[in-house]
Amino acid sequence: MRLSTAVLVFFASTAATASESAAQFPQQQPQRVTGPWSDSTLSPDRRAELLLAQMTLDEKIALVHGSGMRSGGGSNGGAGYVPGIPRLGIPALQMADAVVGVTRGAQMGRYSTPFPSQLAISSTWDVRGACEIGTTIGDELFDQGYTMSLAGGVNITREPRNGRNFEYKGEDPILAGKLVASEMRCLQARGILGDIKHFAANDQETGRNIGNVILDERSLRETDLLPFEIALRETDISAVMCSYNKVNTDWACENSYLMNEFLKKAVGFKGFVISDWGGTHSTMKAALAGLDMEEPGGGYFGDSLKAAVQRGDVPAARLDDMVKRILRSQFAVGQFDRQRARTVPNVFAGLEVAQRAAERGAVLLKNANHRLPISAARVRSIAIIGSHADVGVLSGGGSSQVDAPGGNPVAAAAVTNAPAGGGFGRVPTWYPSSPLRAIQAKAPRAKVTFDAGTDPSAAAAAARAAEVAIVFVNQHTSEGRDVTSLTLPDNQDAVVAAVAAANPRTIVVLESGGAVTMPWIDRVSAVLAAWYPGIRGGEAIANLLFGDVNPSGKLVLTFPKSQTDLPHASVFGPAAAVASGGGSPATQAGGVAGGRGGGRGATPPFDIPYTEGLKVGYKWYDAEGKTPLFAFGHGLSYTTYAYSGLHVEPGTSQSAAAAVSFTVKNTGTRAGREIAQVYASLPASTGEPPKRLIAWDVIDLDAGESKTVRLAVDPLFLSVFDTSTHAWRLPVGQYTIRVGGSSATLPLSSTIALQR
Ligand code: BGC
Repeated sequence: MRLSTAVLVFFASTAATASESAAQFPQQQPQRVTGPWSDSTLSPDRRAELLLAQMTLDEKIALVHGSGMRSGGGSNGGAGYVPGIPRLGIPALQMADAVVGVTRGAQMGRYSTPFPSQLAISSTWDVRGACEIGTTIGDELFDQGYTMSLAGGVNITREPRNGRNFEYKGEDPILAGKLVASEMRCLQARGILGDIKHFAANDQETGRNIGNVILDERSLRETDLLPFEIALRETDISAVMCSYNKVNTDWACENSYLMNEFLKKAVGFKGFVISDWGGTHSTMKAALAGLDMEEPGGGYFGDSLKAAVQRGDVPAARLDDMVKRILRSQFAVGQFDRQRARTVPNVFAGLEVAQRAAERGAVLLKNANHRLPISAARVRSIAIIGSHADVGVLSGGGSSQVDAPGGNPVAAAAVTNAPAGGGFGRVPTWYPSSPLRAIQAKAPRAKVTFDAGTDPSAAAAAARAAEVAIVFVNQHTSEGRDVTSLTLPDNQDAVVAAVAAANPRTIVVLESGGAVTMPWIDRVSAVLAAWYPGIRGGEAIANLLFGDVNPSGKLVLTFPKSQTDLPHASVFGPAAAVASGGGSPATQAGGVAGGRGGGRGATPPFDIPYTEGLKVGYKWYDAEGKTPLFAFGHGLSYTTYAYSGLHVEPGTSQSAAAAVSFTVKNTGTRAGREIAQVYASLPASTGEPPKRLIAWDVIDLDAGESKTVRLAVDPLFLSVFDTSTHAWRLPVGQYTIRVGGSSATLPLSSTIALQR
């Protein structure tokens, strides 16, 4: 029933100040104020317009900036807080970082599930699984009293040494975009505002507050901006967080090309652009370029914006647009209509979802002579070595760090590879999920020993005394610093080499934020990349090693043979750091390690010329003819699959440029999950890298079972960005379509001609 417009409007008081709002506005229980905007049959945009019409200038200004981190009487303790407006029943924005779970849970006396890294989640290639993560994190945010997630990291892995790659979804823009769209759609369905970040091209942490990324328009649109375009096209995502860096000379948060031209005009984004913390640099320029909210304070979008609007320097209509975008996003996810009290998260649901993602995202990189799975019935002794695998599994650091339930089981003093500052000033966090205990539980009759893995000869002695040696190696990564090299730190390569020389059944388990080099690869039997596997990592690893779960993850980034194969010899940095031989990651970061938005001016700005352009990740290796150690899309299983019957034809609708079908058969003796991948080589005239991923499917197959897969190829995924018309163009000509289980193994191939 439509509500009457007049009668239901209650004015509790005249305009309230921010602090009054906080005091009067208990979290999650906004005073119910109704008005014409309360009619839930109207569109979010219409409702926002009706509410906006009631607001004073001060109220509008109060909504477009934060009121400090974790501060203010009404703050829920998260990274950001915008007080609500009780007079109009506008709920507060209570923001928490939530890339891999709700942060600061323990510090607030609450519980949150630490999920596997986003890199692990993406290695499942599973859009339904991404939805499950979104739903679970959305529920935990809601249960803890938050209304907005600062998550959805979707920068592509252009720089493999980037300290935040674990927060992101790998090197392919289409895969990353589809996964983040699914996660955000499901998170928002739980009544939480979603956000995708860091927009744009914030592909390294070194000098993130001063670096100027130089990238031509076509490369920008086809690589770094594409996951944002795909995600926003598929899901009405509430917010996009603009990043710290400059892009082609303008700061991302005052970059009209990025925000006005691309996001709002080309993609039709209806939500709001929120600055990264301290990433706003001006009032007028930023406001006119499309920034809608400053965080975490109001240095530019508080009094200064009010004065600019009063002077007419920023049109009142632009301020209205900012506010409308925020309100319509709150309406769209139901924050005015649904109320729920703060409660306790469902711990058990979280554990289950986290373990499933860890199991499905781990990638079996090598398995010579079928050394894996380990037979629980037959194995008599196992030496476990390294990485504190007796007590836990590693996680990535920075603002996305989820507290370890019960505390970090690895005492700070025992952390051997804590870099100076540890990333955000913290030592690496292990989660209390012990691989050793989980492995012992699988093989209760076997003798299981542990060696710290700090001394190669002690590790070799432990390995020699056992039937199977499992070496855990790790590389800790964090926001605020990049790694200087893909070499495992702390002499771990020497430990693996010594163990492999002592025991022919050496299995390596990798816990990392991305690719590492493996000089010992030919000497070990098996390698399992477990990434940062989250709170059930120990159990997941044991299930995979013993075959209770058949590995099914596939790489979403390339493992190079050597660092010299990367597009750039080192991460770009300020001249001083580079001239002095690179310096520590902390000094390379140009004064930003551990800080947000700080460090500007400490070191002169520097350029980050991404001259590889379109050739990101596997496209680089393909184009340059370099054979990687492990290719994008690679991942083994305990069963085998056969591909046959490829059929490709032009699509018959606007949403399908081509229709692809093929059959996958499980030719082994156990059930498995195969990730079938479809790549296209575009007509040679386009000048594109040799191939790109255009579609995939995750298929569960019993032993001996076959399934026929039918996939429609989105025209965008076959298109190139035409810089003369500033639009996507589907090239006319011959396409080669290849299908298989890895970018390096594509047994099926067919060509198709697309006409105008
Ligand atoms: C990070 C963002 C994060 C924000 C709030 C910044 O340092 O770059 O990803 O959401 O802090 O914690």
